[in-house]
Amino acid sequence: LQAKIPLMALSLILSAQVAPAQEDLRALALDIFSPLPSTLPAVANNPLTPDKIALGKALFFDPRISASGVFSCNSCHNLATGGDDNLETSIGHGWQKGPRNAPTVLNAVFNGAQFWDGRAPDLAAQAKGPVQAGVEMANTPENVVATLKSMPQYQDWFRASFPKETDPVTFDNFARAIEAYEATLLTPSPFDAWLNGDDAALNDQQVAGLQLFIDSGCAACHSGINLGGQEYYPFGLIEKPGAEVLPEGDKGRFAVTETVDDEYVFRAAPLRNIAVTAPYFHSGKVWDLKVAVEIMASSQLGTDLTVEEAEGIVAFLGSLTGTLPEVVYPVLPAETAATPRPSG
Ligand code: HEM
Ligand code: HEM
Repeated sequence: LQAKIPLMALSLILSAQVAPAQEDLRALALDIFSPLPSTLPAVANNPLTPDKIALGKALFFDPRISASGVFSCNSCHNLATGGDDNLETSIGHGWQKGPRNAPTVLNAVFNGAQFWDGRAPDLAAQAKGPVQAGVEMANTPENVVATLKSMPQYQDWFRASFPKETDPVTFDNFARAIEAYEATLLTPSPFDAWLNGDDAALNDQQVAGLQLFIDSGCAACHSGINLGGQEYYPFGLIEKPGAEVLPEGDKGRFAVTETVDDEYVFRAAPLRNIAVTAPYFHSGKVWDLKVAVEIMASSQLGTDLTVEEAEGIVAFLGSLTGTLPEVVYPVLPAETAATPRPSG
């Protein structure tokens, strides 16, 4: 017993020392980041209902919305592998290689705008892009609507999802339903548990990594719920990375605004689940997260991190890997004689 008392006293002293430090850091962190909400977010002009979410899920997994009948959203945003395809740049229609890396759809509802250059304001606007992109699904809105209308089960699902509309099977509603489903793809992580008060959710290296992520300036651009996804910055603010990481042909936001100041400007990438979504950057040229962190430090902050510092930040970023809600693979409506045949 005698031996135990000093030990207990010692652990009390230690926890008294550790706790306030974590509290200070948590208060600072809560000014910069936000935990994921515990309920589904409200989506502008698109009330979420169980019917609409279920319809959106079927559409997300249905390859028949691509011209070839081969590609679904899940082909490039595979929910089993972090909501992306783990390829340098995506492979789409006719085995064509697209120009950019596929970002994850997980938690994308919290991004201020969609795509590396933010050219789509929200997920509904975004969902209309890949269907029509020649290198992705190569389809037309008319053919998507004809495909969906050809299956009575889809007609029923659209009627249930948009009950006030007389002709609910439209390309706009297709996009709204997908947006509704994507709004459910939220992945609470150890970092959320820590922000919500659970000291034990992060280990010491991750706490140190978080402190460094804030102190060295990463959090100036990677903040908010998704640790990014809101603002735009030049990739190479201080020092441009080489063309092998930042290919000259892709000028980022310049293509959206046509303003010279926006050359090589990209959206500060959202960092949730970053440990499972290699390769990195819009070019997809970097496979090692530690290397990506070192490139960020030199290109955006003009600092060289020590190995220990880079490893600490990587450990912290690992705490952003969350748990996906259980996804039950949907059974899709069978095609009919009226369903347009796959082409190309
Ligand atoms: C970007 C969803 C189909 C490849 C995105 C984003 C979302 C998304 C939400 C933006 C994420 C962000 O900016 O953080 C969807 C949906 C699809 C679909 C709902 C089905 C309708 C596909 C397919 C491919 C693909 C089939 C591959 C062939 C990409 C790529 C980007 C992207 C490369 C980044 C493009 C850029 O920034 O310019 N997608 N996607 N997507 N998706 Fe998809
Ligand atoms: C991308 C981490 C500092 C702006 C990224 C990516 C990571 C990362 C891992 C790749 C995301 C992906 O591939 O999905 C960090 C760390 C930083 C830091 C650890 C501190 C050492 C900054 C700062 C800024 C910034 C200070 C703004 C001045 C961006 C932008 C991208 C990005 C614009 C997208 C680059 C692209 O187009 O490929 N960051 N970042 N980052 N970050 Fe940072």
